[in-house]
Amino acid sequence: LDNGLMKTPPMGWLAWERFRCNIDCQNDPKNCISENLFIDMADRLFEDGWVELGYNFVNIDDCWSLKKRDQQGRLQPDPERFPGGIKHLSRYMHDRGLKLGIYADMGTYTCMGYPGTPLDKVEIDAQTFANWEVDMLKYDGCYSNATDQAMGYPLMSKALNATGRPIAYSCSWPAYQGGLPPKVNYTQLGEICNLWRNYGDIQDSWSSVLMIIDWVFENQDVLTPAAGPGRWNDPDMLIVGDFGLSMDQSRSQMALWAIMAAPLFMSNDLRTVSSEARSILQNKMVIRINQDELGIQGRRILKEKSNIEVFWRPLSNDYSALVFFSRRTDMPYHYQTSLSKLNYTAGFYKIHDVFTDETKVVNESTVLDVPVNPTGVVMFYVSAKLQIHHFSRGGKLLG
Ligand code: GLA
Ligand code: GLA
Repeated sequence: LDNGLMKTPPMGWLAWERFRCNIDCQNDPKNCISENLFIDMADRLFEDGWVELGYNFVNIDDCWSLKKRDQQGRLQPDPERFPGGIKHLSRYMHDRGLKLGIYADMGTYTCMGYPGTPLDKVEIDAQTFANWEVDMLKYDGCYSNATDQAMGYPLMSKALNATGRPIAYSCSWPAYQGGLPPKVNYTQLGEICNLWRNYGDIQDSWSSVLMIIDWVFENQDVLTPAAGPGRWNDPDMLIVGDFGLSMDQSRSQMALWAIMAAPLFMSNDLRTVSSEARSILQNKMVIRINQDELGIQGRRILKEKSNIEVFWRPLSNDYSALVFFSRRTDMPYHYQTSLSKLNYTAGFYKIHDVFTDETKVVNESTVLDVPVNPTGVVMFYVSAKLQIHHFSRGGKLLG
């Protein structure tokens, strides 16, 4: 969507995967969906170095509202759990360089049964969100049908625009249409939405991450061209820092989300996230790759019989990123390759291993021995071809 927003994939934190519809503030005050939870996460983002890295959205998901609209027909937050109101929260975010996202649903009800925003409520709810100074809307699709979706998603896009407030727009529409053409029109989505969910919900497990990876890269010919600055495929939240992934699997999710030019919304508990998980999520080079300004979504370029897969994403200034991913279940596998086997042209390149920080200069035919752990990745940040005058005749780096 050409509204000037999200020229690179959005980053931040989203409540759903980790905190779901926990509204039991009596027994679980620290973890229930309430303003305290969003304030806690905002404080962590602000104080623990996340904002500087680009993680600047704090997004409310389902279960924030009362079951009834107010007398003027407006959605209203549950006053026991959000006593300050949503505007208080958005102010809290803005004071700290953060942004606030909120959730609505184009059907009769949200997925958890709270009031929906069907066609006749689109305008009033868009205006309410703008009045609350919200910065992003996720518009879900439960309890709606295909006919209403075809009207409702474009209508909400117009309604948000008409408020005059820049509000980024996340559409769950394609996920409710099976994610693929001819039902899904990716040209239209790119015109009306900043990002869109194509596929089912992520859960806190490696099998869930793997299903998403499989679906995205099996359909890369359709999905890759749909992405670009201001319009992103959304493979759903990062679950790094939760309970379901090993550290290798966490690096795999992070690396492949960067290859996919995916939005990076963490859904974890930033108050207790481990230092290992934090270092993966805060890896500057992966973030730089994810945030590359060209905004070209990467692809799987090789599926080897050895169960190693290679992914590639072109970056600005002729840089690129490579990911070697192992589907093996035995032991670290030494994958042998060279840049020429990966379609690089002759010349010298600097390779930076994103997770070990090691660098080396190689040419196209240098044998690369890449040890990839089971369910893990190795990720390379590859420079543009180095200028030849930096080299002596023997190929040794001089400067
Ligand atoms: C759907 C969405 C999820 C989440 C829940 C909330 O399942 O896909 O991301 O928003 O609804 O109920
Ligand atoms: C859609 C249809 C309506 C009605 C509702 C019922 O909105 O367009 O005619 O059937 O579903 O949920």
